[in-house]
Amino acid sequence: MIGPHTLPPVLPTRTQLSQAYPLASRIDEDGRLQLGGCDAIELAREFGTPAYIVAEDDLRARAQTFVEAFRARTKDFDVLFASKAFPCTAVLRVLAQEGIACDVASGGELALALRAGFDPARIYMHGNAKSVDELREARAAGVGHIVIDNADEIERLEAVVGDGPPQPVLLRVTPDVRGETNDKISTGQADSKFGFSMADAPAAIARVARATGRLDLAGLHIHIGSQILELDPFRRAIEAIATLGDFATYNLGGGLGVAYTSEQEPPRISDYVAAKVDTASRVLGPGKRLLDEPGRALVANSTVTLYTVQSVKRNVSTWVAVDGGMSDNLRPMLYGAVYEAQIADRFGGGTPSRLTGKHCESGDVLVRDVELADPRVGDVIVTPTTGAYGYAMANNYNGVPRPPVVIVSNGDARLVVRRETYDDLTARDVGQ
Ligand code: LLP
Repeated sequence: MIGPHTLPPVLPTRTQLSQAYPLASRIDEDGRLQLGGCDAIELAREFGTPAYIVAEDDLRARAQTFVEAFRARTKDFDVLFASKAFPCTAVLRVLAQEGIACDVASGGELALALRAGFDPARIYMHGNAKSVDELREARAAGVGHIVIDNADEIERLEAVVGDGPPQPVLLRVTPDVRGETNDKISTGQADSKFGFSMADAPAAIARVARATGRLDLAGLHIHIGSQILELDPFRRAIEAIATLGDFATYNLGGGLGVAYTSEQEPPRISDYVAAKVDTASRVLGPGKRLLDEPGRALVANSTVTLYTVQSVKRNVSTWVAVDGGMSDNLRPMLYGAVYEAQIADRFGGGTPSRLTGKHCESGDVLVRDVELADPRVGDVIVTPTTGAYGYAMANNYNGVPRPPVVIVSNGDARLVVRRETYDDLTARDVGQ
């Protein structure tokens, strides 16, 4: 086994599988998919479908790779998990155990991070529309840093701090750098709802600096967008903010893309970290505290979703309909995201298919063009790379209960989030 620090695109144990699958997953002698030492068909039988299956070793390996990549290049750093990517307590706990810190984007994510055991001092609170209540919650929890997004928030936070101890803050700046990604998840361009523009940043920095005693400006934050597969935009964003002054801390955001299909070639984690750290020490100066905020790159490939085929319909196309869809994975519908899919005990192709969900709209297509090996009713279908923003954006459209989360490791499978029930669907009803 190759060490996690190198994370080559393909590990020996998954040579028959695309890099979209979790590390150490494989197809066994009988052609059945094995995940964390567990048989995918058995998992489907035991936990039902749809189900999110998380490979714990993959999560840990990627967390270690991030931390080691930073440690190899700089002394003062922290790696924060952007918890929005997979806000599941058990997953958060695994990452916390690996020494990862946490980014939260709301009071709810803060509550989850605290439950999962993150040290509040290593929690960073984001949000472009934080309420007074959320700021109070962050203060009460002793959140280490609040990332200020806009001028209104400066006033609001000052009032919340009042005569209490000063609140360490970072200021979010939009560096006017655009990475190549879907518009809906691009945030670095000047016309963005996030952060202070390069033009407004100097005044905002001066304004926060005047709030001495209440706000303590530790440094700047940038995040240019998500699922970015080139390193250059990350470098350019760091170069852009170098003109804004000299700070102790820089949070360089997340955004590293991952492989959803065998064709995509994301940069290695170590190359991404090297690009950021090297650029930072060149243009921001040596000895800075550098923070990074990966979401997707930590969790996306750790997880697959298992479904069961309910119907195979042949008209102009072959429509393979499964028991989930846009309630458990909104990404194909929202961003046109492309996924791979296979039959878990019959990998291969031969039948050009459309993998569709069970929801009442034509847009509910999980994979538009996929080759399956003679799909039949009852087959277990697997879609890899569903760890980021799958569970996070799950919903109850059509009254479909949300799937369970199962963590697999060394041949053990443990249920960490149960499937929703019909009773859960009415659990918040309080009146007629
Ligand atoms: N930091 C901040 C301030 C962010 O807003 C985000 C993501 C991250 C870090 C982590 O970015 P990542 O490393 O995961 O790219 N729902 C969309 C993704 C939205 C990302 C929002 N912010 C999707 O499914 O693609």
